[in-house]
Amino acid sequence: MSKITKWDSMEVLHESKNLPIYPHKAKLQRAVKDNSFLVVTGETGSGKTTQLPQYLHQAGFWRDGKIGVTQPRRVAAITVAQRVSEEMHCSLGREVGYQVRFDDCTSEDTVVKYMTDGCLLREILTDPVLSQYSVIILDEVHERSLNTDILLGLLKQTVSSTDEACKGRSLPLKVVVMSATLETDKLSVFLGGCPVFTIPGRSFPVICRFGCAIGEKDTESTVYVKEVVKMALDVHTGEPAGDILVFLTGQSEIEKACDILYEKAESIDYRYDVQDGKVEGLLILPLYGSMPTDQQKQIFQPPPPGIRKCVVATNIAATSLTINGIKYIVDSGFVKQLNHNSRVSMDILEVVPISKSEAQQRAGRAGRTSPGKCFRIYNQEFWEKCMPDYTVPEIQRTSLTSVILTLKCLGVHDVIRFPYLDRPEERFIMEALKQLYQCDAIDRRGKVTALGELMVEFPLPPGLTRALLQAASLGCEDLLLPVAAMLSVENIFIRPGHPEKQKEADKKHRLLAEQAGGCNDFTILLSVFEKCKASDHPSAWCKNHFIHWRALKSAFSVETQLREILVRLQKKRDFPMEKFDGNKSELFRRCLCTGYFTNVARRSVGKVFCTMDGHGSMVHIHPSSTLFDQEAQLDWVIFHDVLVTSRVYLRTVCPIRYDWVKDLLPKLHEVDVYELSSVARQEVTDEEMAKWDSKESAKRQAGVSVEETI
Ligand code: CDP
Ligand code: MG
Repeated sequence: MSKITKWDSMEVLHESKNLPIYPHKAKLQRAVKDNSFLVVTGETGSGKTTQLPQYLHQAGFWRDGKIGVTQPRRVAAITVAQRVSEEMHCSLGREVGYQVRFDDCTSEDTVVKYMTDGCLLREILTDPVLSQYSVIILDEVHERSLNTDILLGLLKQTVSSTDEACKGRSLPLKVVVMSATLETDKLSVFLGGCPVFTIPGRSFPVICRFGCAIGEKDTESTVYVKEVVKMALDVHTGEPAGDILVFLTGQSEIEKACDILYEKAESIDYRYDVQDGKVEGLLILPLYGSMPTDQQKQIFQPPPPGIRKCVVATNIAATSLTINGIKYIVDSGFVKQLNHNSRVSMDILEVVPISKSEAQQRAGRAGRTSPGKCFRIYNQEFWEKCMPDYTVPEIQRTSLTSVILTLKCLGVHDVIRFPYLDRPEERFIMEALKQLYQCDAIDRRGKVTALGELMVEFPLPPGLTRALLQAASLGCEDLLLPVAAMLSVENIFIRPGHPEKQKEADKKHRLLAEQAGGCNDFTILLSVFEKCKASDHPSAWCKNHFIHWRALKSAFSVETQLREILVRLQKKRDFPMEKFDGNKSELFRRCLCTGYFTNVARRSVGKVFCTMDGHGSMVHIHPSSTLFDQEAQLDWVIFHDVLVTSRVYLRTVCPIRYDWVKDLLPKLHEVDVYELSSVARQEVTDEEMAKWDSKESAKRQAGVSVEETI
């Protein structure tokens, strides 16, 4: 056993010395010592993420504080930390550790810490000068995730500001910004003209071929899943040895594609069907964010001799993770992306065409170690007409509510003139301020309220946090904590592909709904959580009821962590407390209303509902909801999220009474965008504020009610 370990580690050492970054080790160590800011750029796979933190460790930076490395994706943070702990011969969680939302694998000994950008943002809330760290490496900056963009602005302010702000630090903080080759000049200018260190790449030519299947309107997943499977099989049977990387959109599409691939690969006759005689089998491996980590590790291992590896991945394999041995790319041309949808004023995960630069990045994955080929399933017309040149940064296309609350809690009141690398549209900032105001996190002057300070502590969407805090103030947090946890993990309901099994699963799920009182989707989540927790054999219980045991296990852990945050806050001085006399079901739903009154809809005719957010969109209840087909008995409902196809579907739905939201609804129309924008800029004078206050009270006296606006 010990022999194998030694051999393995020698192998790893040998590999890391072969990486393009290795010859630049000393120069990089020096450059970080000499500069406050440094931009490091290099082809994906050159060793930036795994090696630079180790080089800085070897240069002794850890003596002055931790070396922190941020990643936009949690899977990347975990797998890279795993790899680096192996390279540094320590167990994960000791010298090398990681922290992602709801999963902290670090200890007192941790000196190299990989984490998501969201985690570092939370750490800044409690320690604005990051006194625990000597170096912060912001990695994958080209991905332009919302949190990384905000961190860039914050670190620019912290490091460039005078000593005053740096009190609490003995030595100045070093910031390294790492990015694939795009936009490095822009980053350098943003960071005051800091040096850019370029790691010369070694990449080989990749021949790209367009397909003929996908045209402008083919965004149905059945179409592109079928096409990538066909293409992957053509490569497998027709091309010489070398591994395949397929880019798809998300977990369910990937699982579907893998299922079909397994089935088709079984019927291949290697004597006749496959051109390269050395290829004797196909190893199919899925790769997506919520996959168990031990399974993810398999992706990096070389396949057995004669076997071709085919990894079917989300965009995570485009830059965050590098898989060795890839010679062929199959590109679906689509990505699942979070976008703000103005039709429903919510962020929605949707399948959209990738950008041209993204397509080039995907193709490049085939040319790391030798020339490669990229097979695109879409045609040239799709490339020209449907694919934008660049991906729009997340900050310009998603809700800013959580980050703006974080900024405000950090004392950044002027959220409009904050140093953004790319400025979000002012209307998005306004929208966020409006939402924060609606859930009582900020007051009309844009100042964070006592409630807002409590809210920022929870890594949850503001509406859900608001409902949870309401429950806590009424002493019924046991109802909301499990629900908040269940809404923070992947979908718990398993829906098998096989029609017979599907029927059985649906039956079991219906039974669970009945046992929960069948009244609303939130209560079902609570009931499943409680039932499974109380079971003597929870994993068997899950299997029997077609529930994801892994998701429930995470939900248990998330619930514990949310409870810990709550208990800590309740010990603080002025945690609000109220009284309520009523039954449990009403109490539960009224707490939900406090957070979700912004997501309220009223049935208009038949099965059609109308939202109350001012847009008055026509919406339907999703077939997966327990309230589907019971629409006729409903009047008012609140919902957790929506699914947009040709129609807008409400998901996780709960019936309510108009009485419960009556007093809250005027808030949806109360805020005036002009006033809020001056609040955001801090230009509002007391005189203006008084004028506004009197206007508001006049409006209220005039009785502007939602009933009238319907
Ligand atoms: O950050 P950059 O893209 O420059 O490279 P990296 O992620 O540091 O990857 C360097 C090498 O480590 C690549 O050859 C990866 O395949 C390998 N690696 C691995 O084998 N296992 C991991 N979990 C992560 C990286
Ligand atoms: Mg990297």
